[in-house]
Amino acid sequence: MSQTLPTVLCVDDEANVLDGLKRQLRRDADVTPAASGADALTAIRRTGPFAVILTDYNMPSMNGVEFLREARDLSPDTVTIMLTGQSDLGTAISALHEGHIFRFLQKPCPPDVLRKAVRDAVQQYRLITSEKRLSRELAEANDKLRGINEHLEQMVSQRTATIQRLHRFVTDLNGLETLADVGRLVVETTVEMLNSRRVVLMVPRNGREYLGILAAVGVCEQTIETARLPIGQGINGRVFADGESLVANQAVDLLDPQDEELEREFFAGVPLVAALLVTSAGPVGVLGVSGHDDGRPYEAEDLANLRAIAEGAGIALSNQIRLEERNEARDAINLAFAKLAERRDPETGLHLERVRGYCRILGTALAGKPGFSSITRSFIESMWRLSPLHDIGKVGIPDHILQKPGKLTAEEFEIMKRHSVIGGDTIRAVIEQGRSQDFLQMAMEIAYYHHEKYDGSGYPYGLRGDAIPLCARIMAVADVYDALTSRRVYKPPFPHEKACQIIYEGAGKHFDPTLVEVFREREQEFADLARHLADVLPDDKEPSAAIPAGPQKVESLAVI
Ligand code: C2E
Ligand code: SIN
Ligand code: SIN
Ligand code: FE
Ligand code: FE
Repeated sequence: MSQTLPTVLCVDDEANVLDGLKRQLRRDADVTPAASGADALTAIRRTGPFAVILTDYNMPSMNGVEFLREARDLSPDTVTIMLTGQSDLGTAISALHEGHIFRFLQKPCPPDVLRKAVRDAVQQYRLITSEKRLSRELAEANDKLRGINEHLEQMVSQRTATIQRLHRFVTDLNGLETLADVGRLVVETTVEMLNSRRVVLMVPRNGREYLGILAAVGVCEQTIETARLPIGQGINGRVFADGESLVANQAVDLLDPQDEELEREFFAGVPLVAALLVTSAGPVGVLGVSGHDDGRPYEAEDLANLRAIAEGAGIALSNQIRLEERNEARDAINLAFAKLAERRDPETGLHLERVRGYCRILGTALAGKPGFSSITRSFIESMWRLSPLHDIGKVGIPDHILQKPGKLTAEEFEIMKRHSVIGGDTIRAVIEQGRSQDFLQMAMEIAYYHHEKYDGSGYPYGLRGDAIPLCARIMAVADVYDALTSRRVYKPPFPHEKACQIIYEGAGKHFDPTLVEVFREREQEFADLARHLADVLPDDKEPSAAIPAGPQKVESLAVI
């Protein structure tokens, strides 16, 4: 571009002057001659703006100043030089005040002065144009910057709004009292924050067998009621199983055709985004979202927002579940006891206190053993709460059998054995009325199976080994130790040592050998607890558990 010669338009009515200009400027410029202002204007219109216009002042029909005035409209950046004779210098100079003319040259003009003037003019022209280009670019850059700023401001205010919205969500969560309320707030907040039409909050049901819908928006009532998504299947089922939140924006992202079907059934297909509700205790639910505004794909930011919601929701949900389970379990147990209240309970409160204490000792000791990872703090806590229900079935046994002072006949013992099924069935009935399955499941197992024996010779089902639920295996040791060391209508209390002997001998027969091992390690704690919580009977001022075995031999429990 800088290689091409600058364009110069020379205007003069005298042909010899024009020729002279042309010749003198030939090396420095691409010269276009014009014999009049009119011709020159035509030339500008034809070829476009020139860098420099060199014009005579005194010309017939249109003088140089008049010409330049018109030329300026056509090529405003052009730098102009005016050639004047001595006589018209004054007139021409008055035109200078218009500020349009770069330089005046007097005729006749020496070649070097002419060439220098043109070179200066060309440089001036380049200055003007590059300045203009710069300021144009600057203006464009400014526009861009303004755009970016506006975008940034918008983003900042969006973020601020998001944070404020999340803050409100968490505050609102704290005020809620039911699981349903928590679910509703979570899905409504998600609908709003993710601009989505469908939101499904799924939680594990029936002991984590499948996911059901706790709350949803944009899903029909029937689906909410009946949805059972196997854990590991469908998007939400996979998110729950894998513990990884995800975004699926295309049908292929679903991969498994079965998944697609599940998604269609429960949700809205793609695009969708799903986040895990997780607490320190593990996953508690999945928040699945689809039906984004205008079907737009979900982006990382959507997932980030959803995760933030899911975090608050997970904590609120697990707190609420724990609270409701506790309340429901308490209600259920109270109900069970209430149902039995009119029946005589043969057990003393201290017996139940001791047995739960023995269960805790065994559970705690077992928790550290390999292969017993299922024994968590909550397992031990549940046993503590639920072990007192193990013999509730005894209220269904007639007094003349239950309180018989001597050995039961075979027939009587057959009736006595029903107490475990009666108890298990009673708790099952309570479970089926409520929704706290997980919690009472253990009470039911304890009631049904606490008289099963490790070698399969127990009742009611003759279960063997690990087929007997762990809680019932623990219960068996605790229950028998207490029966042995306590006074029963049919037997005196045995001393701790004798009780231990009977339990050791039962290893692998009556009892899980690992539990007998644990019992052996902790038997002193059993003895201490027995002494601490000994029964004080009206006809026997001594704590029964501390009393040595009486003289009469009791062979009542031939089963053992
Ligand atoms: P329980 O008195 O609470 O006894 C619970 C379990 O402790 C018994 O379950 C048995 O496994 C063990 N046990 C109790 N006493 C002895 C004993 O002297 N020696 C040995 N080796 N083990 C003992 P089991 O046998 O299934 O009995 C269940 C329930 O049936 C007993 O609960 C008790 O209420 C009743 N029962 C059992 N035998 C008799 C009996 O001879 N007379 C009466 N009146 N009731 C009995
Ligand atoms: C559901 O599948 O959504 C409900 C089932 C249940 O409550 O166990
Ligand atoms: C009893 O019924 O006498 C004692 C109950 C028990 O050991 O569980
Ligand atoms: Fe029992
Ligand atoms: Fe018992």
